Amino acid sequence: APSDPNEEYYNTLTWSAKFFHSAMNLPEGKTCYDYFRERGILPETISAFGLGYAFDDWDKLHHAAQKDGISSEILSELGLIKYTEKGQKYYDAFRARAMFPIFSPGGKVVGFGGRILTGQKDAPKYINSPESKIYEKSKILFAMNFAKDEIRRREEAILVEGYMDVISLHQVGIKNAVASSGTSLTTEQARLLKRYTKNILFIYDGDAAGIKAMMRGIDVLIEEGLHASVLTLPDGNDPDSFVREEGKDTFLSFIKAHRSSFLDFKLQVLENDGGFESPEATTESIRALLESLSKLPDELALEMYLKELSQKLDVGLSTVQKELGKIQNRRRKPSRQPMPSSYPVEAFPEPL
Ligand code: CTP
Ligand code: MN
Ligand code: MN
Ligand code: MN
Ligand code: MN
Repeated sequence: APSDPNEEYYNTLTWSAKFFHSAMNLPEGKTCYDYFRERGILPETISAFGLGYAFDDWDKLHHAAQKDGISSEILSELGLIKYTEKGQKYYDAFRARAMFPIFSPGGKVVGFGGRILTGQKDAPKYINSPESKIYEKSKILFAMNFAKDEIRRREEAILVEGYMDVISLHQVGIKNAVASSGTSLTTEQARLLKRYTKNILFIYDGDAAGIKAMMRGIDVLIEEGLHASVLTLPDGNDPDSFVREEGKDTFLSFIKAHRSSFLDFKLQVLENDGGFESPEATTESIRALLESLSKLPDELALEMYLKELSQKLDVGLSTVQKELGKIQNRRRKPSRQPMPSSYPVEAFPEPL
């Protein structure tokens, strides 16, 4: 059979995942294994997610790779080892870290996330594989391979921030969870979700960063015609900490009781920020909301949300519609009058 040109890359990634995973059975890997166990991760979960350990050593992975005939060039392209011009040699990119293999929706290892184990202050908490021909961050959702069947079955995906959030939820049987692994959701990730369901429940961290990321993420989802709702966790919690402390049943009833539509979520966030404290603030808030709603591709849905907005904020429907019209016109203009590419941008100042 003609071989996939990327086969050697995938083999290298699989080899690396096994290397990290089996390191947990060695004495050096025990601290990492214990770390996961102390965070409530069961041995079967460690196996299912292929969690692993990157040695506290400069070149253990590279040495083992050389012994097993794994190409250094490919390891380097995948960001697993790095070359130092000064030392004229390779060193391991992930060292002394808990390792999370990242899979494609089809279940192939495409990259890694590595979490710091010690309390080092100068190192980032997580480092991730760089972009490569195999790993395109913007197209991946962590654990989609494990979650996709359950997402279809439940007709909903739960979208969380982090690796540990997904893993903890799956461990208690909430297997329709995937992670954006960071904060800004992309259109490609929204389209990936859309292959399995239209209904997305955001449960990002209950801190300012999580709330901000959901505010932006909602727009990305609704622009793709997805139905977004949101659960705000109590400040200081993320899905992992919440489900560990409160248990699955409390978590599920909390979702039932507190989930809100994306519009109610946005209204609430704006209100908490003083967005309705004065006529000026209210005007700005309404424009921001209309800016989001204007992304809805479904005109009927748009109409419904405009009605809701007009009722909830006690602003006339026709006023709201007129404002929306302005936003839509502003957006349409550039495509009606394409800018000649040879003109300097300064020649076309923004309309007032
Ligand atoms: N992340 C990252 N790089 C960082 C910090 C975070 O890539 N320096 C990504 C990781 O995928 C992480 C997610 O963003 O899982 C959420 O970040 P955060 O909430 O800070 O971490 P947690 O997932 O909660 O990790 P932990 O519970 O282990 O502290
Ligand atoms: Mn060594
Ligand atoms: Mn966070
Ligand atoms: Mn966490
Ligand atoms: Mn978190």
